[in-house]
Amino acid sequence: MKRPVGITVHRQITDSQQMHKEATGDLSGLLTELIVAGKIISAEVNMAGLADVIGDSGKTNIQGEEVQKLDEFANNTIKRRMARSGFVCVMASEEDDEIIPAREGYEGKYTLAFDPMDGSSNIDVNVSIGTIFSIHHRKSQEGQGTLQDILQPGNTLVAAGYIIYGSSTMMVYSTGHGVHGFTLDPSVGEFFLSHENIRVPERSKYFSVNEGNYHYWSPVMRDYIQYFKEIDESSGRPYSSRYIGTLVADFHRNLITGGVFLYPSDCRNPDKPQGKLRLLYEASPLAFLIEQAGGRAVNDAGQRILDIQPESLHERTSLILGSKQDIDVLESFLGKK
Ligand code: AHG
Ligand code: MN
Ligand code: MN
Repeated sequence: MKRPVGITVHRQITDSQQMHKEATGDLSGLLTELIVAGKIISAEVNMAGLADVIGDSGKTNIQGEEVQKLDEFANNTIKRRMARSGFVCVMASEEDDEIIPAREGYEGKYTLAFDPMDGSSNIDVNVSIGTIFSIHHRKSQEGQGTLQDILQPGNTLVAAGYIIYGSSTMMVYSTGHGVHGFTLDPSVGEFFLSHENIRVPERSKYFSVNEGNYHYWSPVMRDYIQYFKEIDESSGRPYSSRYIGTLVADFHRNLITGGVFLYPSDCRNPDKPQGKLRLLYEASPLAFLIEQAGGRAVNDAGQRILDIQPESLHERTSLILGSKQDIDVLESFLGKK
């Protein structure tokens, strides 16, 4: 079979490095190590039904969630590889209560925050899951990284992306020059460029929300979500409802086909408005990507996600992201227009 001469993700990383004369290759090296970790996790995910990696590990994390065996495998794979890569000075993981320092003598100039396995509740039912990562420059000068190095807003991100373990394994990332998607060819173990410069359609076809939380939403959120269900052929409404329950998978569909994903605040305690999703390693990296692809990402007060200064490692936020025009409409519901 004649293979197309595909562009590998390593070629793309090297090419984009050449766009920065001052580049030292450290960001390329960091991304390359993450890709190796992604391939290892992908192999394990694809064995999940056969190997002994489905089910829970018997542990509970800081989120109060049962840690799945695959969560733990993915978390350990990334931590071990990155801690001695020499590219990061400190890390943060959804599965670790505190920051994770780089190995002594291997401190690099970047920080890494990640969700090692997003969509854990879908692992045992063979539904797409994923790994989400975000990369900042360190703020401290040298040595072990600090909490302040990690607690940076999305508007200072250097790179962000995800690896989705679905019908195929894909890596989607941006270093600030558009969003590019690479599909793993397991027969050669390489990610090949399959979606160059992804642009999210201005207006969508899907809205994606867990309707089971309807009674916990604010009246504004209920009206806004109802808007997508109303009949208005001129704007292609009603939209179809799609909800996978894995953020990465719902995001990926909306990125490719257009759509709006919502995880609103639970307004049972309005003094502490929070959604379920975490700012540092879920909302912020995906907000970076969606803006790079021409979309928007806000919280349910209409605040740009990338402008939120994180105050703590596992801070949660409401999240509404996707097609620009559908997010713009929120402002009329918030009474801003
Ligand atoms: P994680 O598995 O990393 O904890 O993330 C799960 C998240 C996210 O993937 C998804 O969008 C959301 O949980 C689904 O929450 P509900 O089941 O409450 O809808
Ligand atoms: Mn997650
Ligand atoms: Mn997770």
